Amino acid sequence: MRKLSCRTEATHETQIVIGRGLKDQLYEMDDFFGSYRNLVVVTDKNVGKHYMGLIKKQLKSFGGTVYGVVIEPGELSKNLATVEKIYYDLSEYGITRADAIVAVGGGVVGDIAGFCAATYLRGIDYFQIPTSLLAQVDSSVGDKTGVDLEVGKNLVGAFYPAKAVIVDPSFLETLDDHFLMDGMAEVIKYGCISSSKLFVRLMGYQYQEDLLEDMEDIVTKCLQIKRNVVEEDERESGVRRILNFGHTIGHVIETYFGFGTYTHGEAVAIGMYNITRMSVREGITPEEDLENLGVILDTYGLPSKLPEMDMEKVNQLLGNDKKFEGDILNVCVMPKIGTAEIVRVHKDKAIQLFM
Ligand SMILES: NC(=O)c1ccc[n+]([C@@H]2O[C@H](COP(=O)([O-])OP(=O)(O)OC[C@H]3O[C@@H](n4cnc5c(N)ncnc54)[C@H](O)[C@@H]3O)[C@@H](O)[C@H]2O)c1
Ligand SMILES: [Zn+2]
Repeated sequence: MRKLSCRTEATHETQIVIGRGLKDQLYEMDDFFGSYRNLVVVTDKNVGKHYMGLIKKQLKSFGGTVYGVVIEPGELSKNLATVEKIYYDLSEYGITRADAIVAVGGGVVGDIAGFCAATYLRGIDYFQIPTSLLAQVDSSVGDKTGVDLEVGKNLVGAFYPAKAVIVDPSFLETLDDHFLMDGMAEVIKYGCISSSKLFVRLMGYQYQEDLLEDMEDIVTKCLQIKRNVVEEDERESGVRRILNFGHTIGHVIETYFGFGTYTHGEAVAIGMYNITRMSVREGITPEEDLENLGVILDTYGLPSKLPEMDMEKVNQLLGNDKKFEGDILNVCVMPKIGTAEIVRVHKDKAIQLFM
C-alpha cells in the first residue's frame, strides 16, 4: 500500500491510500472508520450492483449501522434534485455530525456525495472510495465537490476535503472499457502538463492488460502530481489552473451537446488537442508535440477533432466559464510535453480557441 497525504489548510489533511485489493481490507481501517456512530454509503446503481454488499459488510464490523443510498448513474444525476433526495435520506436515517458519508463510485457519485457532506448540517465528514479511473486519478483528490446546473457544469459546489481517499485499482476490472479510456484522457493530461516520462510510458503500452497491470503505479504518479498542485493552490488562483488543461474547450463541448453526449474524458481530449493546435499556431508549442498528442489520443481511442458548433452559442457558453477573471480567460497551454503555462486570453478573442 502506498500512502500520500494532501494538506490544504492547517486544519485539513486528507489521507490518501493506494493499493490493489484495498477494497477487501476496509474492515482493517479502524483509523478511518472506527470513530463514527453510523455510516452512509452513497453509490450509483452500476457500482452498487458489484460492491454495495462487500463494502457494507465490512463497514458494519465497526459496530454502527451502515445505510445505503443508491442514485441513478451518469452525469444527468449530478444535479440539485439528486442532492435534495440524498438530504431527505440522511434526515430519515437520523444522520448527525457524529456520522460520516462514504462515497463509492465514479466522479459523479464523489462530487454529489461530497457536496452533500459539505452542506448537510453545515458539514459532516466523508470518505472517497473512487471506482472509475477518472475518479481515482482526479476527482477524488483536491477538495472540489459540486453539481451541475442546466446552464453549465459544476456551477454549484464547495471546497470540502475528504477525511481519506481509498484508491484500489482492482475496481477497474468491472469498469466498462469505454470509461477506462475516458479516464485515460486525464492520465494523459498529467503526462502533458507535468511528466514527459509518464507521457512516453503511456505511448509504449500495446495491450490493455499491461496497462492495467501497471495501474497502481500510474495512479500513484497522477495523484502525486495532483496532490502537489492542490497543496500549493487549493482554490485555483494560480498553479491549480494547469489541471484545467483541455477543460475550457472540453466543458463547452459537454454543455453544448448536453451532458452525456460526449463524456468528460472525450471532451477533455478534444480540448487538449485543440488548445495545443492553437498554441502551435501562436508559436508556443512545436508541431511535433501536437503530432505526438494526436497519436496518443488515437492509441487510447479518444477523439481529437472539434465537432461542428454554432459559434454564437459557443461564445455564450464560454461566458459561463469559471476561469474568467473579469474580461480575461486563463487558459492552460503545453509549451512542450511535460510542461504547462497559463496564458491570458481576452474575452473577445476566446472564441478563436474553437477555430
Ligand atoms: N471534483 C473534481 O475535482 C472533479 C475532477 C474531474 C472530474 N470531475 C467530475 O467527475 C465526473 C465524471 O466522473 P466519471 O467519469 O467517473 O463518471 P461516472 O461517475 O458517471 O462513472 C462512469 C460510469 O462508470 C460506472 N462505474 C464507475 N465505477 C465502476 C466500476 N468500478 N465498475 C463498474 N462500473 C463503474 C458508473 O456507474 C458510470 O456509469 C464529472 O461529473 C466531472 O465533472 C470532478
Ligand atoms: Zn477533468
